[in-house]
Amino acid sequence: MRSCSGWRRFLLCFSLLLIIFHIFSVFEFHPNSVIEIAPKKRNKKSDHLVLGPAAGQGLPNRLQCQGSKALNKSHFLTPSNASNVGDSISFVTVFTIYSTSLDSHADDKSSNLVTVGNVSYTKKERSMAILNVFINFIEVTMPQSNVIILADPESDLSLQRNKVTLYPIQGEYNRDKLMLQRIRSYIAFLNTRLKELAQNPGHTSHYIFTDSDIAVVDDLEHIFQKFPNFHLALTFRNNREQPLNSGFIAVRGTPESILRAKIFLQDVLEVYTLKYTNASRMLGDHLALAWVIKSQPNFDLRRFSKAQAFIEEIDGASVLFLPCATYNWTPPEGAGQFRGMPLDVKVVHFKGSRKRLMLESWNFFSSASDISDMLCLILMSGRTRYDF
Ligand SMILES: *[C@@H]1O[C@H](CO)[C@@H](O)[C@H](O)[C@H]1NC(C)=O
Ligand SMILES: *[C@@H]1O[C@H](CO)[C@@H](O)[C@H](O)[C@H]1NC(C)=O
Ligand SMILES: *[C@@H]1O[C@H](CO)[C@@H](O)[C@H](O)[C@H]1NC(C)=O
Ligand SMILES: *[C@@H]1O[C@H](CO)[C@@H](O)[C@H](O)[C@H]1NC(C)=O
Repeated sequence: MRSCSGWRRFLLCFSLLLIIFHIFSVFEFHPNSVIEIAPKKRNKKSDHLVLGPAAGQGLPNRLQCQGSKALNKSHFLTPSNASNVGDSISFVTVFTIYSTSLDSHADDKSSNLVTVGNVSYTKKERSMAILNVFINFIEVTMPQSNVIILADPESDLSLQRNKVTLYPIQGEYNRDKLMLQRIRSYIAFLNTRLKELAQNPGHTSHYIFTDSDIAVVDDLEHIFQKFPNFHLALTFRNNREQPLNSGFIAVRGTPESILRAKIFLQDVLEVYTLKYTNASRMLGDHLALAWVIKSQPNFDLRRFSKAQAFIEEIDGASVLFLPCATYNWTPPEGAGQFRGMPLDVKVVHFKGSRKRLMLESWNFFSSASDISDMLCLILMSGRTRYDF
């Protein structure tokens, strides 16, 4: 367009000018609008607790709620005395803090603060808060157990808590590699334990590797007694693409089991590196895990359709498959069918944008001291996307 002569051209040019002017005014008033246009859903994230109806009311074996009062108080918080006599359990989680100059600069702005209850959190403080609540729940429901944090030696984690150990592991902890690094850290940790056991056999500790955005709401020690023959345990759900979730992996503390678990995870790591490095950084490990299982010639995938524990041999390892419904429960995303919360739920996973709910749940529990009531709160608000 070289000139704006003629009536039509004038109209065209005038409209163009209007559009350009509009674009510039948008830039002026909302300097971040370019960033915000793409993920439109971001606007829907809630900065406060939203309670909807409780799903699964009237269904058998589902938690029944009246408001956030649970009608089934079942077995929660009846501490099993088994944990006093049995083997000890350690929860193991990978944790890192991103404190790039960009992040810490952003953290200075009050607009980046997120408030839960009466506390405001910067981005960095949010991950620490999640980690602390993760530990809080374990202290309540499994007071005998330890927490081991596999951490980036670079991140200055200052965490002074009882029965919590920091365990630095060298690696690549940038966001894109974190899921890969997580498996590597698990393997490195199991390897160290193997060496320690060879030098000092006798003391058995079982390990439960989890994400830190979970709440353990019941004692898990029974897994190791009820199913005495597995080497490692995974959680499954009835989902064709992603039947397995890597957010919960239990490993029996015997040298044989630790070795089997290590070899199994090495297989997963290899598949991940070969096939799924380009998958979304959040999904690669789930996909690699599923690939390893599905590639077993005799594995019957139909077993995933029923929420019932079973054991299979996978590459020489005895793998216990535990239903996510009980051991890794998360409300379905979006419009998925939602039949409520099973009465025997033991682990709640605050996946994705549910992190605020994790903190709100802890606050609720701190004042109400009732896990079942808290589960009603989670059931009613678990499908909301939160900002935390
Ligand atoms: C759960 O509570 C409801 C309402 O009180 C009751 O009808 C139901 O039988 C209870 N379920 C179990 C398994 O106890
Ligand atoms: C717990 O200990 C009490 C008394 O010490 C005993 O009566 C009860 O049977 C034990 N419960 C379990 C589940 O072992
Ligand atoms: C913030 O909340 C906590 C727990 O509910 C309470 O102990 C504390 O006193 C509160 N602090 C303020 C300043 O309100
Ligand atoms: C992964 O992506 C990179 C570049 O995006 C490409 O060069 C590479 O071939 C891809 N690898 C696989 C296995 O698809």
